[in-house]
Amino acid sequence: MACFFRRRIAEKLGRTLQQSEDAFIPALSAVPASKKQQSADFKLSINALRSSGILPSSGDIHLQTEDLAAQLTRDSMVEDISAAGGFITFKMNRTLLVQKVLEPFGKNYAQTFGLNSELLNNLKRGTTIVEYSSPNIAKKFHAGHLRSTIIGNFIANLKQSLGNNVIRMNYLGDWGMQFGLLGAGFSQFGCQEKLKQNPLQHLFEVYVKVNKEAEHNEDINQAARDFFKQLEQHESEAVSLWQQFREITVDEYQHVYKRLGIHFDIYSGESFHRDQALDVVQQLQSRGLLKTSEEGTGVVDLSPDGDSSSVCTVLRSDGTTLYITRDLAAAVHRKEKYNFDEMIYVTDKGQADHFQQLFHILHRLGHSWTDRCRHVPFGLVRGMKTRIGEVVFLEDVLDEARARMLHNMSQSRTTKEMDDPEDTAEKVGIGALIIQDFKGPLLSDYKFDWDMMLQAKGDTGVFLQYTHARMRSLIRNNEGVDAETFDPSLLLEQTSISVLQHLLRYDEVLYQSAQDLQPKHLVTFLLKLSHLIASAHKALPVKGSAPDVAQARLRLFSGACSVLASGMKILGITPVDKM
Ligand code: ARG
Repeated sequence: MACFFRRRIAEKLGRTLQQSEDAFIPALSAVPASKKQQSADFKLSINALRSSGILPSSGDIHLQTEDLAAQLTRDSMVEDISAAGGFITFKMNRTLLVQKVLEPFGKNYAQTFGLNSELLNNLKRGTTIVEYSSPNIAKKFHAGHLRSTIIGNFIANLKQSLGNNVIRMNYLGDWGMQFGLLGAGFSQFGCQEKLKQNPLQHLFEVYVKVNKEAEHNEDINQAARDFFKQLEQHESEAVSLWQQFREITVDEYQHVYKRLGIHFDIYSGESFHRDQALDVVQQLQSRGLLKTSEEGTGVVDLSPDGDSSSVCTVLRSDGTTLYITRDLAAAVHRKEKYNFDEMIYVTDKGQADHFQQLFHILHRLGHSWTDRCRHVPFGLVRGMKTRIGEVVFLEDVLDEARARMLHNMSQSRTTKEMDDPEDTAEKVGIGALIIQDFKGPLLSDYKFDWDMMLQAKGDTGVFLQYTHARMRSLIRNNEGVDAETFDPSLLLEQTSISVLQHLLRYDEVLYQSAQDLQPKHLVTFLLKLSHLIASAHKALPVKGSAPDVAQARLRLFSGACSVLASGMKILGITPVDKM
């Protein structure tokens, strides 16, 4: 595997330059595979050696490259060494390459391919809280919530694969004036029967109606304030209605998350921290950080010169707390309760300032762990619509993805007989949604496009699923062929080598994703893997080949297929076996 080769090359370099071999590991990387022409497998960056002080940073880089390359000798493991443009490239012995890359798939290591790489050992491990999705009760579940849900799930999956103890947390918007309105509105527009039948829809209906009413009806506003006050004072009738709203909402969401293959360890929410939020205000006060504004609100001065040119409000003039106050309390509480090593918040970029302020105040409160908190922001999705119109509920998006995919499958000639076509359509549809979302940098906005994301041939989630299903069917159809052992010298064709060279990059891709938490590296990797698999599959038939050739090829395809599946799962896609 990749680390095996990196280590061997580093040893060679260490011996030649009389340095510790470890110093070379970070400068080595796999060369991107080329479908058509032969290429080397690894490259060493001379620039990296210069910046780490192994080579002098003055002097001509090309001469340095040539010079070092000339000192290195070929051997039974390294077939070729060349210098090119500030890099030294290494071509490994072909048979050894095939053997080493495919070795883990014969044993029970297929699931962990790439994951126990030396490269990933340098990453810190510990308890990671990932907070994502976090919709607001009774309000719309907008595209931003969908993005938060799938991105957060990807980050949680990735962190978990890399050996962290991950706590998946949903922080519901379950507190605030909207519950005053909802409580007041429910007695007028609500219906227990409808609430049971279609909770999310009904709560949203009531919420929309009462908001409209509140625009011109002062009585309803007063009723809302009264209701919220009752809530704040823990009055049982109000609390039990609120609780009912919360519980049925969580139940509904759990059901929809399950369709997405997503779960949460904890359903927390703003309401949990309403009393603690006042303690935080107290602490701010005792540290001399709380000021009273002219309007009578409690503020923290965040301006560098302390001239109140930039302040953050943490207390309303009526003594109630705000979104940020509850977030402050929640962060402190989570540190106490879970003692996390790292906490990641996933929301749209519109909340970037909020999190910056949050971290700033936590820091001022003396919480040194603040620098282990991170906000992962993402851009807007434009035009997410279904046939019914604008999206209000997550379920509508999933239904639409499934229906469209089911339709496409019924139109395609290659579609197989399936036990549960709806289930397959759902998984493929969700995969398509995820790939569309994860292709670019998270911060970029993008336009939602059903037709484009569901194309079977383009760089889509459908294409990944299709490739996976084809490989699974190849494996099923060759059940008698035993791929336990195989002859590596039978896999030296260019199409096979390029698949293997690509697999060498898997640990680097995971490493890169772990650094910046961007899914696009993995997406690009899996799409290219699928293209390479498709070429190899065309050029290297299993059926009709001599038994030993069939055996070797099957080993290649089942290895590639299992890496494809692992990668898809990290992205949050459930691979299908048939489509
Ligand atoms: N409920 C919020 C919203 O819908 C997102 C919460 C994000 N998390 C947080 N800790 N503030 O905008």
